[in-house]
Amino acid sequence: MGKHILILEGDGIGPEIVREARKVLDVINAKFDLGMTFENELMGGCAIDVHGVPLADSTLERARLADAILLGAVGGPKWDKLDRSIRPEKGLLKIRSQLGLYANLRPALLYPQLVDASSLKPEVVSGLDILIVRELAGGIYFGEPRGIRVLENGEREGYNTYKYSESEIIRIGRTAFEMARKRNRKVCSVDKANVLEATMLWREVMDTLHKEYPDVELSHMYVDNAAMQLVRAPKQFDVLVTGNMFGDILSDAAAMLTGSIGMLPSASLDKDGRGMYEPCHGSAPDIAGLGIANPLATILSVSMMLRYSLGYPAVADAIEVAVGKVLDQGFRTADIYTEGTKKVSTSEMGDAVVAALQ
Ligand code: NAI
Ligand code: MG
Repeated sequence: MGKHILILEGDGIGPEIVREARKVLDVINAKFDLGMTFENELMGGCAIDVHGVPLADSTLERARLADAILLGAVGGPKWDKLDRSIRPEKGLLKIRSQLGLYANLRPALLYPQLVDASSLKPEVVSGLDILIVRELAGGIYFGEPRGIRVLENGEREGYNTYKYSESEIIRIGRTAFEMARKRNRKVCSVDKANVLEATMLWREVMDTLHKEYPDVELSHMYVDNAAMQLVRAPKQFDVLVTGNMFGDILSDAAAMLTGSIGMLPSASLDKDGRGMYEPCHGSAPDIAGLGIANPLATILSVSMMLRYSLGYPAVADAIEVAVGKVLDQGFRTADIYTEGTKKVSTSEMGDAVVAALQ
């Protein structure tokens, strides 16, 4: 039986970029005779408009049954004023935690054709290929207690809790070491162990786990230094592993090294390798509806889905080759446009990838 994919287009540019990814899915489905089936559900602001909540229980149920999930992005100014308990992003956090999607893989790979689009000098970034492994289901984004309270003097105080248990650290650590084995066998664990107790434990547990992976080199780095090193000499890294918040921030920084956040795919996996796939960027309300968003991060997320959850690595390779080909042909959406290349719309970029696949 073919695999079943749940598609959540979401908000803003979500529907535009997912439409292009769907074209690619339809082409490979036919070309490689995969027999995949698809269904669409709502998540985010669009779900609030229809169901009153960002993630309906029925949608979560469909997500549990699917072999993989493809997501565009959620959120936008239309829903910013809502109470924070029903914000679009709550749907995203809920699906990640309910499905146990703790391992977020964010490759930052600079395509050689885009060296000029990077914000750093060619010699600093050319050949860049790093993998950020971000813990996604724990840490300060989920820690209790949390909230905004009124102090005795009447002043308000906001607070969150940063915590990681040993088992949470071990499972994400394993993902990082396993991934490094398929790459250049180097893991850099990022923490703030000089200040935060939670990350002192993180460092200690990583060191202990490392004994099971003697063939992989492990180093530690404080997050502030890691931010600096990513911009100074990013090629020193192979796999970076870190907690939820540090990973969120560092991966956006790493994104810019590759030219545009519109190029960066991601996978969020559970313990069995089932997962949700989405571009690293958000719903880009500033360009929604203009037909200029870069669909490649979403298309490359489809490639990760085929590789990590569906067991079709050769098809994943074919998509990546096709993306390389359209970049060779000079096609660029506005975010990666440089002089001398051909500026194309969202749908023209999707069509170009489809043509390259055929
Ligand atoms: P964003 O990633 O949506 O946009 C940042 C900048 O990058 C904008 O200038 C945007 O136009 C540009 N950009 C993003 N994706 C692009 C693409 N594919 N092609 C070309 N340019 C692109 O981040 P921002 O503006 O901070 O957030 C906007 C909304 O998205 C907010 O509501 C936020 O909460 C939500 N968001 C959702 C995420 C998700 O669904 N996973 C992740 C991050 C933000
Ligand atoms: Mg982010």
